[in-house]
Amino acid sequence: MTKNKSFPENFLWGSATSAYQIEGGHLSDGKGPSIWDVFCMIPGKVHQGDTGNTACDHYHRFREDVALMKQLGIKAYRFSISWPRVLPAGRGAVNQAGIDFYNALIDELLLAGIEPWVTLYHWDLPAALEFELHGWLGEGIADAFTEYADLCFQHFGDRVKNWITINEAWVVAILGYGHGVFAPGIQSPDLPYLAGHNLLKAHAKAVQVYRQNYQPQQGGKIGITNNCDWREPLTDSPADQAAAERALEFFLAWFADPIYKGDYPAVMRERLGDRLPSFTPAEKELIQGSSDFFGLNHYTTMYAADASENNAAGSVYGNGGLSADQDVNLSVSPDWALTAMQWAIVPWGCRKLLQWITARYDNPPIYITENGCAFDDQLRDGKVADLERIAFFEGYLGAIQEAIASGVKVEGYFIWSLLDNFEWASGYSKKFGITYVEEGTLRRVPKASAEWYAGVIAENGW
Ligand code: GAL
Repeated sequence: MTKNKSFPENFLWGSATSAYQIEGGHLSDGKGPSIWDVFCMIPGKVHQGDTGNTACDHYHRFREDVALMKQLGIKAYRFSISWPRVLPAGRGAVNQAGIDFYNALIDELLLAGIEPWVTLYHWDLPAALEFELHGWLGEGIADAFTEYADLCFQHFGDRVKNWITINEAWVVAILGYGHGVFAPGIQSPDLPYLAGHNLLKAHAKAVQVYRQNYQPQQGGKIGITNNCDWREPLTDSPADQAAAERALEFFLAWFADPIYKGDYPAVMRERLGDRLPSFTPAEKELIQGSSDFFGLNHYTTMYAADASENNAAGSVYGNGGLSADQDVNLSVSPDWALTAMQWAIVPWGCRKLLQWITARYDNPPIYITENGCAFDDQLRDGKVADLERIAFFEGYLGAIQEAIASGVKVEGYFIWSLLDNFEWASGYSKKFGITYVEEGTLRRVPKASAEWYAGVIAENGW
């Protein structure tokens, strides 16, 4: 896989994290609570009652983390800003200490020659906005998000040239408002579509502000990151092929079609009717073309089979969306190895997904803003050999090379994650990091995969 310079010139090699998962300092220096701070306090919501209160203590140790990335030769760092750290009540009064923290982090990165990639929303909504506006279900949420985004462009845009508005609208909508397993914990067959609608509107409004008021002088780019698994037809029957296509449209095209084509996929409208909100003509115009690049988080693949006659999921909630809406049954092959998340390792699914995006959206520049795996790493003599993780990355990077060779424009790759961190409802039980965080001291120790990644970057770094 790692033949000399086998990735395109200027390919961006990065690592990714998010605020709630690593920062800690959950109420430090004037930060307000987020919906994840609250969700973690509800018994039974998070594995063993874990919280992000301290997490990796990145809020106090960010200089160590930047030094670590520099040592590994990592060229770009994708992190998120905690909205309630800079706007404790979500709107209005600004917390200067929060602004100072991100200024210091950005300066430290630039000093180390690392390009900051900033996500504005990685799920830690200010709790005040959940109470006051019903979070992503509320009419006013797009304006609140735009006020927050504006503040970030204003304070950080002189140095931050890569912005991601929303991380994984699908997860926010389906897991937060459909299955209710992520904050704010709401279960409903209909509300995910409303939440998704407001997320798209918020994204587009923030992009408009950036393009009108900042991009001309600051010269950066802005986009959204969506997540998608690959869906492979279980058999080559036309019904299963249509089911796999439908599953991808309910997953990725739900959010990408409005941005690249101006409206939701026809199959969603046919099946959901009025349960799927509609955009006004002015909103369609605002949303279409609102991403300078295609941000993609990709982790796994499943088989898809037509279930119009027999929906084995047996409930409105299924893996991959609200399954009764799609009539798709999902499964994995017993031959596929699984990660600790029980996600199948299928590198060719990544290649096929990249090719699907390229065909459907007319060859956009793609950044893989997350890819990675959790394993039950064993510590031996203070070291983690994590051979499975290295094999995972070799497989997926190989598939990305194949996609590039076939004409797909992948321009960068961010490993999830730099550090073992708070893995949402799984707490600290799932380890995605290429670095582990020593218990007690919170010292960072690179795993073998970190050294391996440093080698890949050195070979392909141009
Ligand atoms: C993504 C998410 C990350 C991380 C990862 C691994 O969906 O953006 O925050 O948790 O999955 O599960």
